[in-house]
Amino acid sequence: MPLPYSEIVMEHFKRPHNVGRIEEPDGKATEGSPACGDMVSVYLKIDEATQRIDDIKFESYGCASNIATGSIITELAKGKTLEEAKTLTWRDASDALGGLPAIKAHCSVLAIDGLRSAIENYEERHGLIKERIPTTEEIIRKRLKRVMNPVVGLDIVRTNLVQEVDWNPESGVARIVMDLPAGHQFANNIKDEIVDKIEPLWDVNQVIVEFVE
Ligand code: FES
Repeated sequence: MPLPYSEIVMEHFKRPHNVGRIEEPDGKATEGSPACGDMVSVYLKIDEATQRIDDIKFESYGCASNIATGSIITELAKGKTLEEAKTLTWRDASDALGGLPAIKAHCSVLAIDGLRSAIENYEERHGLIKERIPTTEEIIRKRLKRVMNPVVGLDIVRTNLVQEVDWNPESGVARIVMDLPAGHQFANNIKDEIVDKIEPLWDVNQVIVEFVE
């Protein structure tokens, strides 16, 4: 049975470009798809003077078109300024791949979400966000909804792994208690992702992630 993918998709799936991680990236993000539970991580190196994407890599934890869309967005974004890269859409990714089956459109949405979140991570870490909204518990919970529980492929809020969120605006300390044993195989990954999502908020000084014993 012929695969419902274009030749370009198959090419990027078999020989993806810019795969891997960048050590000490300037911006990074992992995003999960609520549609399927797959994930993608995007790493950026930015030229500070020109605000151009000097290098970009991705890691895929998903399907063939997750790999192909991850590959194509790195090609589309490399060399662009952050502002230019922000305007890329899932349709640009899909068009550049010669189209995706309708059922796989969400894979390109995920890749673009990963790129935009990595840019947002860079901007937050470098004080480039102009609108400084004070952090609230609601904002923290919203961000936690973008951290996946790899066991079931749904986010950690929806799967009731977040037991408690404490936010102290005076000290800037966010404390998140997880209903997960510290020795769980994914505890460290989940902790790293929580810190990655919450720590860049401009008024957050410290993120404490606790696990139940
Ligand atoms: Fe999940 Fe493609 S099916 S990213």
